[in-house]
Amino acid sequence: MDTKIIQVDEQHIQEELLRQAGGIIRAGGLVAFPTETVYGLGGDALNPGSSKKIYAAKGRPSDNPLIVHICRMEDLAYLVKEIPEAAVKLAEKFWPGPLTMIFHKSEAVPPETTGGLDTVAVRMPSHKAALAFIREAGGYVAAPSANRSGRPSPTSAKYVAEDMAGRIEMILDGGDVEIGLESTIIDMTEEEPVILRPGYITKEMLEEVLSSVGEDGTMMADNCRQAPKAPGMKYRHYAPKGSLMIVDGEEEQVTAYINGQTERLRKEGHKTGVIGTDATIARYRGDVCKSAGDRDDERTIAKELYRILREFDEEEVTAIFSESFDTAGIGQAIMNRLLKAAGHHIIHL
Ligand code: TXA
Ligand code: MG
Repeated sequence: MDTKIIQVDEQHIQEELLRQAGGIIRAGGLVAFPTETVYGLGGDALNPGSSKKIYAAKGRPSDNPLIVHICRMEDLAYLVKEIPEAAVKLAEKFWPGPLTMIFHKSEAVPPETTGGLDTVAVRMPSHKAALAFIREAGGYVAAPSANRSGRPSPTSAKYVAEDMAGRIEMILDGGDVEIGLESTIIDMTEEEPVILRPGYITKEMLEEVLSSVGEDGTMMADNCRQAPKAPGMKYRHYAPKGSLMIVDGEEEQVTAYINGQTERLRKEGHKTGVIGTDATIARYRGDVCKSAGDRDDERTIAKELYRILREFDEEEVTAIFSESFDTAGIGQAIMNRLLKAAGHHIIHL
């Protein structure tokens, strides 16, 4: 299949192009599109055949449900059995935006889209081209992140093309995304809403709207016996091809430890990589050293993380070490993704 790549500009929405893209979805095809979090791989959420194609293009297990993207609040009711009051409040505050809410699904949503679950995840993204595309596509676009299963989510169209060229009809290229990590997921089917995946919208922000919000116990832990409630969280996600180890501790100890390890591994024939920060990066002696940004600027670190992981793959690095990050605010989402990428290999010095 020949994959068309088309530039879209959030500031100047080209209706005709988005109509074409929407037409592909309505005809049962797949189109990757930019959102404010990461690129999505879109198909018609109400068409079971489209959801099957999404799983096939991603190489993703079909028990891992998709997020349905909408462009207007009034479209939510069609997808769900009921809209809890708490969800209305969250939507008023955070939609359109990087928040996904889980509801009991209506009959309109085929089980293929929800991985057989009787719940459905819904999000209204804030990216203007995404909203226009969803409208042209008929209003209900199922979209996981547009990476091949197990790879870091794509934060630019170049990475979508790397994973999806030849497998889907079209890629809408909107440049680099704004946030760089996937949306926060909150389960609204419980008495007390529960965060299943941390993201840009933090627990503190949610608690400004709702009195209390829980957290899935498996979110940051590894050897928890409990299965995560978001099926996707159980897979070793976001993984670079090389091994990745997180090193936590005092700055000087961390640099010394990582330098010792990279030196040892290089002698064993490895190509070594380091993820550091602006203040420390010059001190590392790995073969490929990359700064995720200023340690105090977590938004930048969130935005850079997946690109850095992919660049280590491009440069065929086989052993990577990363500094650890604070888990306050969006730092929790950063560490959640980094821990998954590392298969929970973390050493505390
Ligand atoms: O920011 C995002 O959320 C991006 C953009 C494209 O919107 N999408 C995204 O989708 O990250 P995906 O498929 O890569 O991750 C969706 C996660 C998976 O872990 C999946 O298991 C979980 O959401 N999920 C989806 N529906 C669910 C449901 N009904 N119950 C529990 N978890 C669900
Ligand atoms: Mg994903």
